[in-house]
Amino acid sequence: MTLARTRKALDTQPSDDYTAPFSARAVIWNGPGNGLSIEDVVLDPPGPGEVAVRMLASGVCHSDLHILDDDWDMPSPLVMGHEGSGVVVALGPGVGQHPEDPRVGDHVVLAWTAPCGRCTRCADGDGHLCAAPIGGDHRTAKDQVRIRRTDGTPLGIHCGIGTMSTHQVVATQAAVRTDPRLPAVQASLVGCAITTGVGAALWTAGIQPGDEVVVIGLGGVGLSAVMGAALAGASRVIGVDREQAKLDLALQVGATCGVLATDDAQTEAAIQRKCEGRPDHVIEAIGLTSTIELATRLVRPGGTTTLVGLPRADATAALDMYKFVFSGSRIVASNYGSAVPCTAFPRLVRHAIDGHLPIDAIISHEIALEDVEAAFDAMRRREGARQVIVFD
Ligand code: APR
Ligand code: ZN
Ligand code: ZN
Repeated sequence: MTLARTRKALDTQPSDDYTAPFSARAVIWNGPGNGLSIEDVVLDPPGPGEVAVRMLASGVCHSDLHILDDDWDMPSPLVMGHEGSGVVVALGPGVGQHPEDPRVGDHVVLAWTAPCGRCTRCADGDGHLCAAPIGGDHRTAKDQVRIRRTDGTPLGIHCGIGTMSTHQVVATQAAVRTDPRLPAVQASLVGCAITTGVGAALWTAGIQPGDEVVVIGLGGVGLSAVMGAALAGASRVIGVDREQAKLDLALQVGATCGVLATDDAQTEAAIQRKCEGRPDHVIEAIGLTSTIELATRLVRPGGTTTLVGLPRADATAALDMYKFVFSGSRIVASNYGSAVPCTAFPRLVRHAIDGHLPIDAIISHEIALEDVEAAFDAMRRREGARQVIVFD
């Protein structure tokens, strides 16, 4: 896959005074049917428990496209983006006193679920399922607006982080310190695709050495699941996609073979021909009803289907219940790779630095903020792999 480097200089210069309201430039979704705009915005200095971050990179994920295509019920106007890395540039009052707090100059990856740390699910170690995640209402913290249009209109920020902005103010729990040796463009993907996909393979599915694994859908998330399956020691990893270029890429990041998806019956037969019997694991990384149903049919009796791709809000799927109950197999849903960001991000970054996660291979384009519409068009056409906005 060719790496297009079409970055242009930003129109706005980064601010360096964060003690008073400061300016930034952001991608804003204007509500159903009203598309995107790229605007100058005004940020408040960070409040207690918050930090200001100068963003370095933000990936473009299919979940962003779901919002733009009105697949989900989301508040608007909303600063887009939930997959980003940056540098802490200012601390809110009181931040820095706890040893785990971020400091100015720290490199951080932003988490789209920042666990509250107080609910029973957090206490059980399932922070990804937190009952009251910080940023869950698409604000910096509950009811807290830190970013506005220049006319004063309050803006939501996607999942409390809104990474498609030159700067952002986020809760400290959402800013996870990571090793700066991993280039920021690669680190940004740890915020969603890598944690979602690698985590699904390692932590939700629990793939074991020697397992046979099928991954359906080879975008940023599915390719990350391929990397995770390879890291877990799967003996065979079969990538499935409608695009030959995605199969080629999957082979570069750990797949042992690929199946070009055509119609469902042919695809099912082609996958079965590649497997000895049926696979131990199937990971679905698209979120389509047809491929979710295909995944549940493919897995061996007693095996595990892991659903990663997020469907439209109104999607349903059918199961052949008699066969399914007899099969003794499992269907599990994977939210954020069953990962707790503050522990998972540094581990995944270490894996990448050590050469065990070829994140760079799945970055097809580095783009400017102004090119984001074109990036979404390319994603609709199933072109490229991960496209990443790079902030200068
Ligand atoms: N059969 C096989 N492959 C398909 C099909 C299909 N019917 N339809 C789409 N694909 C492939 C595309 O060619 C593409 O490679 O699925 C891949 C989807 O990749 P992206 O659009 O890049 O999506 P990604 O960002 O990886 O997200 C995947 O996970 O987090 C969720 O909301 C996200 O639902 C989305 C999913
Ligand atoms: Zn995402
Ligand atoms: Zn919680």
